[in-house]
Amino acid sequence: MELLFSKWVSAFLLCCWLSFFIGHSVVGLNGNSRVRAVNLGGWLVIEGWIKPSLFDDIPNGDMLDGTQVQFKSVTMQKYVSAQNGGGLNVTVDRDDPLEWETFKLWRVSESVFQFRTTEGQFLTCSGDGSIVTATAESPSDSETFYLERNFNNRVHIKLKGGTYIQASNDNILTADFPGTPGWDDNAATFEMMVVGKMQGDYQLANGYGHDKAKEILKKHRNSFITVDDFDFLYRHGINAVRIPVGWWIASDSNPPAPFIGGSLEALDNAFSWAQAYGIKCIIDLHAAPGSQNGMEHSASRDGTVNWQTSPEYISQTLDVIEFLASRYAVHPALLGIELLNEPSAADVPLDVLVPFYKQGYKIVRKYSTTAYVIFCQRIGSADPFELYQANIGSSNTVVDLHYYNLFDRYFDKLTSLENVQFIYKSRQSQIQALNSANGPLVFVGEWVNEWNVTNGSLADYQDFGRVQLDVYNAASFGWSYWTLKCEKKHWDFEWSVRNNYLQLQPGVYVGNSPRKRISRVILLLGVACIWI
Ligand SMILES: *[C@@H]1O[C@H](CO)[C@@H](O)[C@H](O)[C@H]1NC(C)=O
Ligand SMILES: *[C@@H]1O[C@H](CO)[C@@H](O)[C@H](O)[C@H]1NC(C)=O
Ligand SMILES: *[C@@H]1O[C@H](CO)[C@@H](O)[C@H](O)[C@H]1NC(C)=O
Repeated sequence: MELLFSKWVSAFLLCCWLSFFIGHSVVGLNGNSRVRAVNLGGWLVIEGWIKPSLFDDIPNGDMLDGTQVQFKSVTMQKYVSAQNGGGLNVTVDRDDPLEWETFKLWRVSESVFQFRTTEGQFLTCSGDGSIVTATAESPSDSETFYLERNFNNRVHIKLKGGTYIQASNDNILTADFPGTPGWDDNAATFEMMVVGKMQGDYQLANGYGHDKAKEILKKHRNSFITVDDFDFLYRHGINAVRIPVGWWIASDSNPPAPFIGGSLEALDNAFSWAQAYGIKCIIDLHAAPGSQNGMEHSASRDGTVNWQTSPEYISQTLDVIEFLASRYAVHPALLGIELLNEPSAADVPLDVLVPFYKQGYKIVRKYSTTAYVIFCQRIGSADPFELYQANIGSSNTVVDLHYYNLFDRYFDKLTSLENVQFIYKSRQSQIQALNSANGPLVFVGEWVNEWNVTNGSLADYQDFGRVQLDVYNAASFGWSYWTLKCEKKHWDFEWSVRNNYLQLQPGVYVGNSPRKRISRVILLLGVACIWI
């Protein structure tokens, strides 16, 4: 009797230990361990450079929304210019093309376009015989031009009625070229230079048109990231993913044109896969309506940053946060919600951003008392301390810093050693200072093992990766690598790990696959039963 009783007690204790083992050894994020995450970039928010082939089949695919073009009259050898960047007449009198001579495309179809100046006005022409000015605030018929293109990038521009635009002798543009121009040197022929491009969700969807875009994106969303990737991440000790999403996910199935539904189902899949592997998810609102930074990954149409200019955009963004929080708050794989990726310091003032962050925090808290609410630092010249002084929320808040030794001219000429020193001198001291500041935890939410060093050796890359991991591991919330998969191999986490360019520190966490772990538990239970 006594023996039987003590056996039951032992079995009970064993079970307690086993359930502890199952419950706490998968991802100890709630305990002492920190986020070691990878971004799922270029998946539910498109960036052409991550997977260029997505854009391959668009006709006139180098003339998408936001493409920057310049026009040079072949007879005058002068560039078309919007005086003062827009709002005035158009002249054909510049030798060196700069901002005033650069126009952003709005694509109507593969050969029909509107042209936007740096100050935001559209080229307009009221009809046959009229001059072209840069004075329209929004585009409709008079701002819509038909473009013919020759193989050597010579173009003709005509009105809907068929009249060709020419560079007239008094250096202006007029809709009065007689007849049909050839491709010889004539006043209606211009050389077109493409000097900038954007390849985001807007460009892809508007470039293909709805049906074809839907087909392309469906395939991409189903194949670019799969459960196998979560297996890979799990086996390499990654305990979280940061998943960029676009605002249109909140009206999935039928989002406003040109955006394409279906990203919600993919996000649901990611949560299921993550849960199966004990990986946590951070949802990151990467693209907000109106665009918060003008970049392709904010789904901007032409590089304009409008998010902060309209209370409607901001309240629409809060609705997206509410949608995401209400849908995923109870999901066991949710770790946090990042309210807005990379708002531009030059365009988005702190007194617009902070009230938005405060409201977003409250909305997430309505649905979850524990989900982390993440505030991204403004990109450009802004000090992340501004978000510590702002008192945005009282519990489980995080500030996200993006650390690239790229994009800023300061890094262009650094040697590999100087890059490493920069991580220690500048990044490490910032992380230490923020770690000890009162308030949000610190998250290096984007970083990459790439730099502007030509032909770095394997050992150079290994050093750079080791130093970054060493320094970012100290961030109180953790870090997230940008990005899981990328055509540029050093940006590709899987490539970098497989090829040993990025050496994740051994011993921090080495997981078995869940299947193996479960079978080990069953084995232990079996042993316990036999013993009882
Ligand atoms: C624009 O051009 C027209 C025709 O050349 C001219 O009459 C007008 O004064 C110009 N306006 C400005 C603001 O330069
Ligand atoms: C790398 O440096 C070159 C100048 O050497 C610069 O033109 C380029 O933009 C830099 N690339 C990045 C991604 O910062
Ligand atoms: C880098 O390597 C490429 C090919 O491996 C070579 O063509 C190029 O000259 C090298 N550049 C420098 C700066 O060493």
